[in-house]
Amino acid sequence: MTHRVMALSTIFLFLLISTSNAIDPCTSPPSQSDGSDLSILHIYSPCSPFSPPRPTSWFNTVLNMATKDPNRVTYLSSLVSQKTSVPIASGQQILQTANYVLRVKLGTPGQLMFMVLDTSSDTAWVPCSGCTGCSSTVFTPTTSSTYQSLDCNEQRCTQVRGQSCPATALGPCFFNQSYGGDSSISASLVQDSLRLALDIVPNYAFGCINAVAGGSIPKQGLLGLGRGSLSLISQTVPLYNGIFSYCLPSFKSYYFSGSLRLGAASQPKIIKTTPLLQNPHRPSLYYVNLTGISVGKKLVALPIDILTFNPSTGAGTIIDSGTVITRFIEPVYAAVRDEFRSRMNGTITSLGAFDTCFDTEVNPAAPLVTLHFSGMDVVLPVENTLIHSSATPLACLAMASAPNNVNSVLNVIANLQQQNHRILFDLVNSRLGIARENCN
Ligand SMILES: *[C@@H]1O[C@H](CO)[C@@H](O)[C@H](O)[C@H]1NC(C)=O
Ligand SMILES: *[C@@H]1O[C@H](CO)[C@@H](O)[C@H](O)[C@H]1NC(C)=O
Ligand SMILES: *[C@@H]1O[C@H](CO)[C@@H](O)[C@H](O)[C@H]1NC(C)=O
Repeated sequence: MTHRVMALSTIFLFLLISTSNAIDPCTSPPSQSDGSDLSILHIYSPCSPFSPPRPTSWFNTVLNMATKDPNRVTYLSSLVSQKTSVPIASGQQILQTANYVLRVKLGTPGQLMFMVLDTSSDTAWVPCSGCTGCSSTVFTPTTSSTYQSLDCNEQRCTQVRGQSCPATALGPCFFNQSYGGDSSISASLVQDSLRLALDIVPNYAFGCINAVAGGSIPKQGLLGLGRGSLSLISQTVPLYNGIFSYCLPSFKSYYFSGSLRLGAASQPKIIKTTPLLQNPHRPSLYYVNLTGISVGKKLVALPIDILTFNPSTGAGTIIDSGTVITRFIEPVYAAVRDEFRSRMNGTITSLGAFDTCFDTEVNPAAPLVTLHFSGMDVVLPVENTLIHSSATPLACLAMASAPNNVNSVLNVIANLQQQNHRILFDLVNSRLGIARENCN
């Protein structure tokens, strides 16, 4: 009986796979998806224009991507509204900081762009024709009938970070922003129609990039999903009521496609939530109240108040889509790591960003890590806690210490820990929800 069921389900699975193979998942038209439900691709997915010609192992991909985390975390720590700091770009970077991309259309008729999703930025920007230092795929304003540039006397111009207008407030709205810790853009604020799956957002304000410096600027632009005034969520309140969620696909699966759901309609009804905290000095960031961390059943002992949210210093914990592995400030990470290591057999080794790697053959039972938030505990599944090498019996704790410098006050819950979970951002009720979901 059991065999028969298994045989049948194997056939069914086979049929399912062969059917889905017939449709190319990269080119399936948006009309097949719901109006406000978009695919999220990992930047190196075969459906992404940024996928490498020869894929490396996902373990190496993660190792490589994680090398840019310290820059990003330092950048996130230093994000202060209205303050422009344009760093000198080294120009040496070849890796993208960006991890997930969305397929959107800008203008009328729509021009296809693969924009990076960033929950810690507000203003969107795309490379525009004539841009210095951009790659070949650019948005061409002159062929869009709905395009308009915005002037300095526009209210939206006063909301953009790094805005530079003459005192007379005449002329086009320009702004410069640093990004990713080593790069910057110089752009003008414009508006046009944004198409997300079947929905159209009219008069969407975004930056049209004139020049870039540094290697961290997403090649086809960035879609800011932060909580500040010019973010997608703030500009689409009439359409989506300040609610969205995403499920980030695992780096491991081949057709890594997750989803971004905009609006209240299709969100999970039952989900654990924690309040979002607001920091007026860093309005883009999604702060939450992380109150403790457990390794196995044991609550890790931490210095008192070390996790406390402090709007004036920026201290606390955020959820971010653009950092790869979770970073805790040094004393917090050290305590978690030491507790984790104390459970392990054999030698602990380091590899890239990871300082707690071990032999899985003598450690079949690595402890789970639980993140405790106000009103919500999240037990991270093994695949969100460890990364396993495909070649050797080696796994590493997929977390690290934040760069230990003067700015180091911020804990960042990163995307490897969020994969295959639905993360709900509810700005109406100021809460963040997390639920397990297989989004691949
Ligand atoms: C913005 O960047 C441009 C180009 O790099 C530069 O000419 C301009 O001075 C910058 N403006 C500000 C306010 O930093
Ligand atoms: C965070 O949680 C702790 C422990 O429950 C509580 O004492 C503190 O007031 C909370 N902080 C904020 C900003 O809500
Ligand atoms: C370490 O070895 C002991 C004894 O074999 C075993 O009980 C324990 O589960 C191992 N630790 C891990 C993390 O697997």
